[in-house]
Amino acid sequence: MSVNIAIDGPAGAGKSTIAKAVAKELEFIYVDTGAMYRAMALHLLRQNIAPGEEDKMDAACENAEISIVYEDGAQQVLLNGENVTASLRKEEVGNMASVSSARPRIREKLVELQRVLAAKADVVMDGRDIGTCVLPDADVKIYLTASAHTRALRRCRELEEKGISCVLEEIEADINDRDHRDMTREISPLRQAEDAILVDSSQMTIEEVKAEIIRLYRESRK
Ligand code: CDP
Ligand code: CDP
Repeated sequence: MSVNIAIDGPAGAGKSTIAKAVAKELEFIYVDTGAMYRAMALHLLRQNIAPGEEDKMDAACENAEISIVYEDGAQQVLLNGENVTASLRKEEVGNMASVSSARPRIREKLVELQRVLAAKADVVMDGRDIGTCVLPDADVKIYLTASAHTRALRRCRELEEKGISCVLEEIEADINDRDHRDMTREISPLRQAEDAILVDSSQMTIEEVKAEIIRLYRESRK
């Protein structure tokens, strides 16, 4: 049986950074489920569907084949055979993903793919519903969070490092909107699973969070 570590939490909590680092140390595969929702969002945008046109999304998602390959250990997302990984981090794609990920048919398709990946290999998988829905029997479940302000500061720093200027208040408002959508949607809302361990990274460095998760994993194997 493969070993599964699930990391859920709101946008900007540090899930992907930490999940990647934990996977590297444990020699597991890192599965970024947000990138799959983003690839589906990119597909919808390419079909000229706007975030408000939710009724068109279910039909349009049927023409999207999302698959995952690994290149030098890094996850690559293929959309109908095209590697779209480099286009997924745009704000426009993230905002669309936050709306389209509430569609039941889109979730059904992507959850199926995620379960196949987790059954095949030892994985650290991050997302919003991994511990609650995708992998209810995961060996370790972490709910990683940080205050909205801390998360906005981190996002701004990240954008500024890339030479993109940003307004902190706008980023924080965007984070609050996204949290609200993720937590209040009908299907698989973001919430802490009953058996998940809460890690608040507001005052923790990346190294500290990583060490804590590895400690929890080792404890679970005893
Ligand atoms: O990087 P960030 O936290 O902003 O987002 P992401 O993890 O790349 O996910 C993009 C969007 O996909 C999120 O806003 C969620 O609405 C959605 N998502 C989801 O619904 N379920 C998941 N397991 C992962 C992402
Ligand atoms: O995947 P998610 O949206 O949860 O967050 P992320 O993209 O991994 O992290 C957002 C930013 O916060 C990145 O620039 C990380 O380097 C930073 N971060 C941090 O400064 N301290 C932490 N303890 C965790 C993440």
